[in-house]
Amino acid sequence: MRELRATDLPALILILHQCEAFTEVEIACALELLEIMINDPLQQDYRVAVANGGDEVQGYILYGPVPMTEGTYDIYWIAVDPDCQGQGIGRQLMRHAERQARAAGGRMICLETSSQGHYQRTREFYRQAGYCEENRIRDFYRPGDDRLTYVKRFTTMKDS
Ligand SMILES: CC(C)(COP(=O)(O)OP(=O)(O)OC[C@H]1O[C@@H](n2cnc3c(N)ncnc32)[C@H](O)[C@@H]1OP(=O)(O)O)[C@@H](O)C(=O)NCCC(=O)NCCS
Repeated sequence: MRELRATDLPALILILHQCEAFTEVEIACALELLEIMINDPLQQDYRVAVANGGDEVQGYILYGPVPMTEGTYDIYWIAVDPDCQGQGIGRQLMRHAERQARAAGGRMICLETSSQGHYQRTREFYRQAGYCEENRIRDFYRPGDDRLTYVKRFTTMKDS
């Protein structure tokens, strides 16, 4: 696990495409956030961690304190190279973000995901990591595609 480098961008863009979970618009948004991190590493809104095996970039997580809240964090993006999935890397990234948020006075982490079938594995991943579904807005993304908000509250967090 390490900080983001400008040279990671091509590998991260490839991973975002290879995941086959994101639309072109979503990938453009993910890239925009990564570029903000590279161009202005001292900005306060986002944090990023890159999972690596030696020189190989395996995935990343982008999270940060939600503006105008006290101690609420959001996980905005997480992606792991499909060739490296199922090896615990996603879990390591989540734990890293949770430790950092908690150390900075965070009370909870929220994240949003889709109700669609192909996100089933992702939703299971969040549940296994101790996140609970607390909110559902029906048809948020498009008709038939709800937005689910998952939350983990650090006061009840058992691990890390
Ligand atoms: C979701 C994602 C980040 C998980 O990363 P990962 O490295 O594969 O996850 P891990 O190996 O750390 O798995 C952690 C846990 O997730 C669950 N999990 C992993 N693979 C699973 C599978 N095939 N089916 C169900 N649950 C699974 C398990 O509970 C696993 O714990 P275990 O190994 O003790 O059983 C990764 O699959 C990914 O990048 N998906 C595409 C992008 C995406 O959906 N991002 C989120 C957008 S909202």
